Amino acid sequence: MNISNLKSRFPVFKKNPNLVFLDTAASALKVDEMIDATNNCYTNEYANIHRGNYELSSKLTKKFEDARKKVADYLNTSENNIIFVKSATEGINLVASCMSKRFLEDGDEIILSYLEHHANLIPWHLIEKKIKIQPLGLNENSEINYDELNDKINLKTKLIALTHMSNVTGSITNFDKVKDIVNKNKIPLLLDGCQFAPHKKVDLKVLDPDFYVFSAHKMYGPSGLGILFMKDKWIDEFSPYQGGGQMIHDVDIEKSTYASGYEKFEAGTPPIAPVIGFSSSLNFMNETDPNVIFDHEMKLHDYAYEKLSKFNNIKLYGSNKNKGAIISFNIEGVHNSDLGAMLDKKNIAIRTGHHCCQPLMKHFNVAGTSRISFGVYNTKEDVDYLVDSIHEITKIIL
Ligand SMILES: Cc1ncc(COP(=O)(O)O)c(C=O)c1O
Repeated sequence: MNISNLKSRFPVFKKNPNLVFLDTAASALKVDEMIDATNNCYTNEYANIHRGNYELSSKLTKKFEDARKKVADYLNTSENNIIFVKSATEGINLVASCMSKRFLEDGDEIILSYLEHHANLIPWHLIEKKIKIQPLGLNENSEINYDELNDKINLKTKLIALTHMSNVTGSITNFDKVKDIVNKNKIPLLLDGCQFAPHKKVDLKVLDPDFYVFSAHKMYGPSGLGILFMKDKWIDEFSPYQGGGQMIHDVDIEKSTYASGYEKFEAGTPPIAPVIGFSSSLNFMNETDPNVIFDHEMKLHDYAYEKLSKFNNIKLYGSNKNKGAIISFNIEGVHNSDLGAMLDKKNIAIRTGHHCCQPLMKHFNVAGTSRISFGVYNTKEDVDYLVDSIHEITKIIL
């Protein structure tokens, strides 16, 4: 597949051919194959799945479960470990709530980092048990300071929960540095793959986390669907997160028993059409090849990083190494929200603000940054237009 310009695969560019979309980290644009599959599902295939003893239902049930297998294959794991939830956020809330019920005591500790998105912080604030959060600090390149890991682990440490790739700096976590310590101390590992999984091959056999979460909407897929990988041990030992249809074994008025396996965590009608649509997003990812996508995006990143670093009084957050294609910056005297609004007038979409990472903003001593993030559809021309536009805007403001 020719990856140098894939805009023709994204229908939004038919209506708005000059759109320069640099906010893929928030949510990716939608690929034609996914839109067609979702449309076809609702138009021709739709019925509620599981338990329907008629053809429409059984056919769609098969497609839905085939999609679970496709997700598992993409991650190099088993479909028995894939749980469909509404978002990565819900996936982390599910793990936090289930851990709190049976595996955490008041005074226990979990290790996170200053790079975490609020989705991997607040669920831990909300649980009933009063745990202590031990944050890993950052080094001079704003990468996780792995040296702190040994000091922060103790007998009360019950989980290490880290982002796989920062949504602000793009920094990719080096799990070679984490795994030895995790294995030696037998501490469960949760990885937030929201920013990594849409851009590079994920191999869960190699990473070997206890939990891995990401959202379909950041992978050219539908909103309303998150993927939670959970190891067998936790599937067996956790109690259900929510109750309702489908997750049961037997129900009386006063009590119930629950399904075993991943079904225990999928109460109610699942996100049927999003799962069918996401299966087609994965076809697109596989056809394009995630590692080719990564190289394409990193070429654009390096080109943009070099051009941006030439601006007077620009501060680029994080380093340009060991990372994915995200750049956060501030230009002295230009408020990030003004820059975002003025770029919008030029049909360029970037994200500004705290990016749901207030602890990291506090570490940088800023209220927010401008962030550009690349997707498979971006081109060198997009970067040229962005940089020329920032030049024009800074001339007006400064
Ligand atoms: C690193 C990271 N984690 C978690 C999330 C939450 O994802 P969602 O809002 O799809 O649940 C995001 C979203 O931006 C993210 O970037």
